[in-house]
Amino acid sequence: MTNENNNNRGLWGSKIGFIAAAAGSAIGLGNIWRFPYLAGENGGAAFVFLYLFCILLIGFPVMLAAISMGRSAQRSIVGSFKTLAPDSNWKYVGILGVITGFAILSFYSIVAGYTMGYIFKTVLGSFNNIQNAQQTKQIFAEFISDPYWVFICSYLFLFLNGVIVYKGIENGIERWSKRMMPILFILLIILVIRSLTLEGALAGLNFYLKPDLSKITGSTIMNALGQALFSLSLGMGTMITYGSYLSKKDNLVTSASYVCILDTLIAFIAGLAIFPALFAMNLAPDQGPSLVFIVIPSIFSKMPGGIFFGTGFFILLSIAALTSTISQLEVVVAYFIEEWKWSRKKATAISVAVASVIAIPSAFSGGIVQFFTKLPVYGGDFLSFMSTVFGSYNLIIGSFFIAVFVGWKWGVHLASEEIIKGNPHFKIRFLWNFLIKYVSPIAVFLILLNLIKSSFF
Ligand code: TRP
Repeated sequence: MTNENNNNRGLWGSKIGFIAAAAGSAIGLGNIWRFPYLAGENGGAAFVFLYLFCILLIGFPVMLAAISMGRSAQRSIVGSFKTLAPDSNWKYVGILGVITGFAILSFYSIVAGYTMGYIFKTVLGSFNNIQNAQQTKQIFAEFISDPYWVFICSYLFLFLNGVIVYKGIENGIERWSKRMMPILFILLIILVIRSLTLEGALAGLNFYLKPDLSKITGSTIMNALGQALFSLSLGMGTMITYGSYLSKKDNLVTSASYVCILDTLIAFIAGLAIFPALFAMNLAPDQGPSLVFIVIPSIFSKMPGGIFFGTGFFILLSIAALTSTISQLEVVVAYFIEEWKWSRKKATAISVAVASVIAIPSAFSGGIVQFFTKLPVYGGDFLSFMSTVFGSYNLIIGSFFIAVFVGWKWGVHLASEEIIKGNPHFKIRFLWNFLIKYVSPIAVFLILLNLIKSSFF
């Protein structure tokens, strides 16, 4: 492996290696599956604007904080907290991250399994004679309640994931990320064009881009923040772990900026593809997690060569999901290697096995087992429950602590010194210091408070 330091850790193999891998982590089902469905459920444009604010004021500063922690400590999440604040309780924030990592990996792999299954469905002709969106809705409902499809695809996905992570940092992760992203981008643009030219598309555009501020509630804001952090892979140690494979020459500010911009762009474009088509098909925007699986095949069915493009799309989306789950798995694997002194092989095998077990109730939640399809008290399905608790709340809590840690405990001074190593001018130093010390933690705190207030009082 490319190397200029250090204790046998892998390093990214090229200058754009980190950006490719971190963008590969960030860009995934979060952008194309989760962002549109949450925007649809939370009032459209108002959500989109809140989301952008969260990226700027919280996402970007926290990302810079996380990668500077990782690069400085050269350890994974728990080790980074231990190194930068020895003998303190901060390591528990790391442990929370590892637990969150397992949880996210488990439900994410199920949705990734759906995505992979849709490759086969498209090829096998399930979407050949689609007249309306009711049919695609029906196909999806049948698909996710079929245990064979769900388990075979999701476990195949987890297995592939394990193989790539086992092969280690440079060989596995970078290579996948660099090649696929541009093609996915082009396919999304094609989808946008078709979607916007459907009759009735304008209503969707209005819903997506014309904010109705009266729709904002405590939970809209929380969902927007949770989604911003989820999409940027923040709050559970992914960027700390990936940052630990960076060299001291790398410019952290540009790297973080690229990742934030690319990720936000892809999510935005995905929404632009989904909402006009959704309204053109007379569907309600609050379809929940099934949204993209209903809308995307319907758009392809209205295109010449739809089967071809559709197959390509689901292949690329599966790969995008894979580069994201690789980063989730890498967090827990790196933790076991460092803290429990396991070999990479053992750490990967056991982590994948554990994730496969935790994934079972999420796999059941599309109709296979009624209990998990409609949880008592919560009312929704188990997968959505996991997505809210671990994919939003825990990331918000984790990011809050990362901001407080870098702003106050490790300190902006030391963090800035770390950033300066690859970026002597560090023009936004004072702005960033201010954001990470005050703006991000206070904003996150207020959002949490507001949520508690609106859900209990
Ligand atoms: N950001 C990825 C996506 O949008 C998912 C992801 C990868 C993630 N690593 C993460 C989410 C760490 C939260 C934390 O698809």
